[in-house]
Amino acid sequence: KFVPVVAVDGPSGVGKGTLCQALANHFKWHLLDSGAIYRVLALSALKQGIALDDESQLAQLALNLPLTFDTYGCDVKVLLDNVDVTNEIRTEQTGGAASKVAAINSVRTALLQRQRDFRKAPGLIADGRDMGSVVFSDAPVKIFLDASAHSRAERRMKQLQDRQNHVKFAEILQEITARDERDRNRVVAPLKPAVDALIIDTTSLSIQDVFNQSITYINKKI
Ligand code: C5P
Repeated sequence: KFVPVVAVDGPSGVGKGTLCQALANHFKWHLLDSGAIYRVLALSALKQGIALDDESQLAQLALNLPLTFDTYGCDVKVLLDNVDVTNEIRTEQTGGAASKVAAINSVRTALLQRQRDFRKAPGLIADGRDMGSVVFSDAPVKIFLDASAHSRAERRMKQLQDRQNHVKFAEILQEITARDERDRNRVVAPLKPAVDALIIDTTSLSIQDVFNQSITYINKKI
């Protein structure tokens, strides 16, 4: 039986995570945070002293990554080797490291099936960079969120401050811009809207606006 997927892609700090959680709650569908997988892989490599450009070791690590998502209601905990790394993977440093390992073709291939396994009835909300273009290219609904780098840095800063991390705006902006450039310009699965994606520029939209537009679009398509 066909299991529907809503693919939500876009650059970092654009509000995908917030939107996807709200959509998953609304429809009572499964949720895939694919970025968390790349983040955990990067964290695990750093902990093991594997260089972020060591293709064969990283691909091997990706194939055997002891990663689990523990769901308590709408709360998701990310475990690496049964250790809670939910907060540890959220730093901009880990995000930067994630975008380095994510540029490697064999790593992406190694993680494909793990991501596709999230597709279960009644449906899946998939959050990432290549959900609509590669991983779930047959998804009946594809949404691409975009926003200016400045407003994404502001949002990311607020998010990090809420977690009581010490952050500087100029550094966040610089890290977000560098990560985006890497994600957009890589050879394999570069960040770009799928041809059949609805593009929403969220720069001057509230979370509620983005949610409403998405719901209207999804209900029309499914
Ligand atoms: O979405 P998040 O910021 O958690 O993703 C971290 C990094 O993982 C991204 O900058 C990107 O390089 C990589 N990523 C990816 N493909 C995905 C999800 C994330 O390459 N589907």
